[in-house]
Parts: sequence; C-alpha cells; structure tokens
Amino acid sequence: MEKNIVVIKGDGIGPEIVNQAIKVLDAIACQYKHTFHYQNILMGGASIDEYGVPLTDEAIKIAKASDAVLLGSIGGDTNTSPWYQLEPSLRPEAGLLKMRKELGLFANLRPAYLYDELKSACPLKEEITEGGFDMMIMRELTGGLYFGERETKEIDGQMVAHDNLVYSEKEIRRIAKRGFDIAMKRRKKVTSVDKANVLDTSRLWRKIVNEVAKDYPEVEVEHMLVDNCAMQLVKDPRQFDVILTENMFGDILSDEASMVTGSIGMLSSASLREDKLGMYEPSHGSAPDIAGKDIANPIATILSAAMMLRYSFDMDDEAKAIEDAIEKVLKAGYRTVDIMSEGKQQVTCSKMGDLIVENL
Ligand code: NAD
Ligand code: IPM
Ligand code: MN
Repeated sequence: MEKNIVVIKGDGIGPEIVNQAIKVLDAIACQYKHTFHYQNILMGGASIDEYGVPLTDEAIKIAKASDAVLLGSIGGDTNTSPWYQLEPSLRPEAGLLKMRKELGLFANLRPAYLYDELKSACPLKEEITEGGFDMMIMRELTGGLYFGERETKEIDGQMVAHDNLVYSEKEIRRIAKRGFDIAMKRRKKVTSVDKANVLDTSRLWRKIVNEVAKDYPEVEVEHMLVDNCAMQLVKDPRQFDVILTENMFGDILSDEASMVTGSIGMLSSASLREDKLGMYEPSHGSAPDIAGKDIANPIATILSAAMMLRYSFDMDDEAKAIEDAIEKVLKAGYRTVDIMSEGKQQVTCSKMGDLIVENL
C-alpha cells in the first residue's frame, strides 16, 4: 500500500522521538512492501519561530489531504520560553488545538497497559500490579473547556477570568458511541467519568451515555465521579476497561494512568474522527527539561505510529509487529532512563529506536 503521512516533529524532544518512529515505519514499509511518503509541516513553537503563528492555513490544508498525521509534541517551558509571552491564541498549544478542531478529531484513544516487564517501574504495590491491567481512556477532544469562549477582563478594579464549559448532546453521543464500540471489542465495560454532582455538562453527559448504553445491552456501564476516579486509578487500576470522559478530565486522568503503567513515556494516543484520517501522538509533552539529550523514551511515539497503522491504514499485522518488537526489547532488559530499574540496561532514545527496528 502507498500512504501519505504528514509529520509534525514539533518542539523539545519532539524531533528525537519522531525520528525513532520513522525508523520503525521505514523498516515496516520495507518488510511489508508498503510505501510511506512523508511530508513535514510545522506546528507549535517551531511554526511560531518560522511564520509567527503556531499553525498556518497551508499546514492545515496539507494535513487534511493526508492519510494520517504523526506528531511528536509541541510547546516549551511555560515559565521561561518566550512563546508564552505571546497572546494565548499565538502560543504553541493553540496550534495543536486548532489542528484537532480543524480535522474534527473528536475521539482521543489513550491506551494504558502495564507490560509484564515494567511491573517494577509501576509505583503501585506488587499485589495490585501482579495480574497487570489494561484500560483504554476515551477522551472527548474537540469540546468542553478547551473550546468554550474565554476571557480575562477588569471588573470593579480587579482582573476576572472565565472559561466556558459547553457540551452538546451530539458531541456527547458520538464519543459515547465510540466508547461503547471499543468496549465491545474489549472486556465490555464502560466507566463513564463526570462531575454530575456539580456540573450541568456532566448531568447531560450522564443522561446521553445512559441513552447510548441502551444500544449496547452486553456492555456493563458504570458512572463514576472524576475525583473518585482519580483515586481509584491508583487504588486499583484493574477495575477499568474503557474510561469514557470529557476533554479536561481525560487530559488529567490519562497522565495519571500513564504513570501507573511505569512512565508517561509509554502512553500513546490516537485522535480519530468518523473516517480513517487520524492524528497520532504520544500523550506526553515536549519535555523541555530533557530535550536535546537523546534520553527521552520514544516508545509512546512508536506505539502511536502502530496505532496509525491499525486505525488509519488497517494494517493490523504491521501494528502488532511493532507492539511485539517493543515487548521483546523490554523483555531483553533494555530501558530508557524513565523506566530504568535495577539490573536493566540503560539505553538512549536513538538506541531504543534501533533496538525496536532490530526486533521487528
Ligand atoms: P511533559 O509531558 O512534557 O513532561 C512532564 C515530565 O515527564 C517531565 O519531567 C518530562 O521530562 C517527562 N517526560 C515526558 N515525556 C517523556 C518521555 N518521552 N521520556 C521521558 N520522560 C518524559 O509535560 P510538561 O512539562 O507539563 O509540558 C511541557 C510542554 O509540553 C508544555 O509546553 C505543554 O503545553 C506541552 N505539551 C504538549 C503536548 C502535545 O504536544 N501533545 C502534550 C502535553 C504537554
Ligand atoms: C495533551 C496535552 C494538550 C491537551 C495540551 C498541550 C494542549 O496536554 O495532549 O494531553 O491538554 O490536550
Ligand atoms: Mn495532557
């Protein structure tokens, strides 16, 4: 097959980790006789430096015309980078949000899975991690607080800010359906996470989820308040199969879930819409504190590339080959520093990429 992949290396560790994913994709192309064409575009800080805006219309056009987008990560140190002196709509993150919205990528899948080999990197007690856990966080990605109207202004001599949280029935219904569809292919349990004891958006969320649930009688549904969910994730992550939640809660809970898998450097993600076009990126950020040192963990990005093969290109065998190669490398004892433990062999970001290619 021939596919056009738009590549956004991004900022910070972005280029280092994306280069590893491309190594792996090239090896897959060679083994399975595919042709992947890559086209680089800029987004985030790199785009600000080049064009003065975090995402150009031209870049959006190129992404829309592609078969899939592979992204590293964007942004800088929000305390020190000059990008954060710009007005909010011109900062790196505005580019990412615009891309998600323009492409209509409403469904964000973030799988959190504990590899047998990484049990010692998980901060939870051994009796909890023993049998492992495997959950899918389904995060709504183009609504909620991220996209509501916001403003900071002076009222009665002091600054006042507001951010609007809006959800429509339609937005909730389509992500809920996606969540249930995915649960049907997994352990058939959906935990819908909200704050229905306080928020109207959450009460609507719960009502619509219950309506959608009627079409999936085989799926067990539970509703959990987000504060409780944050606690349950560290108490016993084995209870979760699909976690279905809104944009902001999903952002926070997925970082939490990543750490119980051992490291944020392991958590991949796919941002999808109704058709095959998707954007694939690790769940973590640009890690400015370790950028340029060749020590970042590229596995989340490589797993995201595998998700691209699976969800956008229907290349299940190829995706599985990548996932198996990662498992083999972990079994052989190789670790980047974030997942390092006693008796294991510490390797760089680029070495980890090479090892995964060798094990394909
Ligand atoms: P971060 O995820 O970049 O880093 C948090 C911590 O995790 C840091 O200590 C970092 O070194 C570590 N870390 C992250 N990825 C790692 C990896 N692959 N290997 C090893 N360690 C890793 O979060 P932050 O510091 O809060 O944000 C930094 C910047 O990234 C901000 O500008 C933020 O807006 C941006 N960001 C971008 C994305 C994205 O592009 N999708 C996602 C999250 C954050
Ligand atoms: C993520 C990131 C983004 C988000 C930021 C960079 C806007 O944290 O993809 O998880 O909050 O969605
Ligand atoms: Mn996040």
